[in-house]
Amino acid sequence: MIFLNGKYLSKDDAKISVMDRGFLFGDGVYEVIPVYQKKIFSLEEHLQRLHANLQELDITNPYDNSEWENIFTEIIKHSSFEQEAIYLQVTRGVMNTRTHYQENLYPTVFVESNKISNRDNNEIYAGYSAITEKDERWSKCHIKSISLLANVLSIKNAKKNNVEEVIFIRDGVITEGASSNVFIVKNNQVFTHPKNNLILPGITREISIRILQDLNIEVFENSFTEEEMMSADEIWITSSTREILPITSVNSKKIQSGKAGPLWEKVYLSYQSIKNG
Ligand code: PDD
Repeated sequence: MIFLNGKYLSKDDAKISVMDRGFLFGDGVYEVIPVYQKKIFSLEEHLQRLHANLQELDITNPYDNSEWENIFTEIIKHSSFEQEAIYLQVTRGVMNTRTHYQENLYPTVFVESNKISNRDNNEIYAGYSAITEKDERWSKCHIKSISLLANVLSIKNAKKNNVEEVIFIRDGVITEGASSNVFIVKNNQVFTHPKNNLILPGITREISIRILQDLNIEVFENSFTEEEMMSADEIWITSSTREILPITSVNSKKIQSGKAGPLWEKVYLSYQSIKNG
């Protein structure tokens, strides 16, 4: 069952207009919110980011937080997944005539839930591979825009190269992954790109920083170069659907021993206990 513009429908019965600005211009934003054993994880932070994104686009938030929560609760009541991710999308709405900008439309709202597959523990501890690419996205990457063509083309490359993620480099520094944030560890200090217009302010990034602070591990929101990443002790990526994953090879080169590192394990286990708590 999905939610579309006030109605709960089967996916096959859900239809949107060809004049929807999301379809014609990619004019909208989205959120992905993890749900573990039917419990919505970090709901408030995701709704806060959604609200900020809608404000930036000048789209009125169609629901308040409790209305959003009711919709999500109804959707997950009808799913049969142990771990899932709510996907929600808000577009500026439906026009009469194709025109680059039009205001005062009713936003189109779509909500569904998708299974998050369980990863095998041995696979996670063995670590994942990544490749680097020039960050050719625009300079408003803090907006969770549904216009994801640059990311789509990079993820296409990741699939072709059989790697977990593409790590972006802009003006010599690592920004983030095609659908994740990036952390490195050097001499027990952790670094991740500062929150600005060049990265999505990931909720999992925020949770990881909080975990690190609670563990009294030094964490710096400072950018780092590709060279610094390649000689780092550990690399991790974070996202709502992938949690915190170790990257042990980049551009076919092993990172140190090529195994998941001890700091990653600490943060990963803390995240597991928070999510199961
Ligand atoms: N992507 N950076 C980018 C470009 C992303 O697309 C994502 C998440 C993140 C991590 O954000 P968070 O921790 O809030 O999930 C960072 C989602 C999962 C997606 O597009 O499906």
